[in-house]
Amino acid sequence: MTEAVPAPAGKTWTILELLRWTTGHFESRGIETARLDAECLLAHVLAVDRLRLYVDFEAPVSPKERAAYRELVRRRADARIPVALLVGSKEFWSLPFKVTPDVLIPRPDTETLVAAALDLLPDGGPGATVLDVGTGSGAVAVAIAAERRTAHLVGTDISQAALEIARENADENGVGERCTWEQGDLFDPVAGRRFDLIVSNPPYVAEKQRSELAPELAHEPNAALFAGEEGTEVLYALIDGAAAVLSPRGWIAVELDPSQADGVARRLAGAGFRDVAVRRDLTQRPRVVSARRED
Ligand SMILES: C[S@@+](CC[C@H](N)C(=O)[O-])C[C@H]1O[C@@H](n2cnc3c(N)ncnc32)[C@H](O)[C@@H]1O
Repeated sequence: MTEAVPAPAGKTWTILELLRWTTGHFESRGIETARLDAECLLAHVLAVDRLRLYVDFEAPVSPKERAAYRELVRRRADARIPVALLVGSKEFWSLPFKVTPDVLIPRPDTETLVAAALDLLPDGGPGATVLDVGTGSGAVAVAIAAERRTAHLVGTDISQAALEIARENADENGVGERCTWEQGDLFDPVAGRRFDLIVSNPPYVAEKQRSELAPELAHEPNAALFAGEEGTEVLYALIDGAAAVLSPRGWIAVELDPSQADGVARRLAGAGFRDVAVRRDLTQRPRVVSARRED
């Protein structure tokens, strides 16, 4: 159990003192992003942005604020709840997204998928139709809709609870009118329709890795993470079904684990897709594979 943030009688705690104490505490519990997490949680409690903490380092924190902060620190350190779930939001593509335990917390790696999609959708072109399979919080669909103002997005997910969050995020980010949300397995909800682009960040963690994963992942939905023993079940099902819902010369772009890139590229080529390309993330690891349906 976490000891409470120490509070000797009569002591006034400043922002800097609280951050220093919490950073040491998180470090002692093996949390790698200790200082960042401490700042995010304190900024949330004080309802300011992180920069403000630096300006106000010497400002006192009231007992009421400290009590609220102490509870968040306890849940972060003891239950290993991710900061995004404790504060209820996460920034992705410089946009705010509501997150709950029903959705995957959007990851920076997934911005590579958005960048790939934008390259495939010329700016100022006619209104493209884009399908985001496994939309979760709606992060990918909403980011694309925000960048391509004529595009129409359909987000699907097996989880109705996730789709409710996606809808809220689209509305909050001002793109709700060009997004629709449909529940179901893979392409089932859009059978018989055609799209210019399919994007997906499907579950792709291998079951065999489950025991090695960070404890924080236990707070995200299983269905958002795992896809069979090798993690490729959903990826391969997407590839196998994509041609039926793509327009002629339409594109597909999928996110994956770097170890899966070669297998996915081979499967796309084997399914008759052209222009198979691998895109790397900011750490130079293969992260997205895209390809074009032949005519
Ligand atoms: C890795 S999360 C991605 C969420 C979001 N697109 C993002 O990038 O942050 C995968 C999502 O796929 C959904 N999913 C899993 N299996 C599915 C299936 N067979 N059909 C549709 N959606 C599925 C999960 O519910 C989850 O929301």
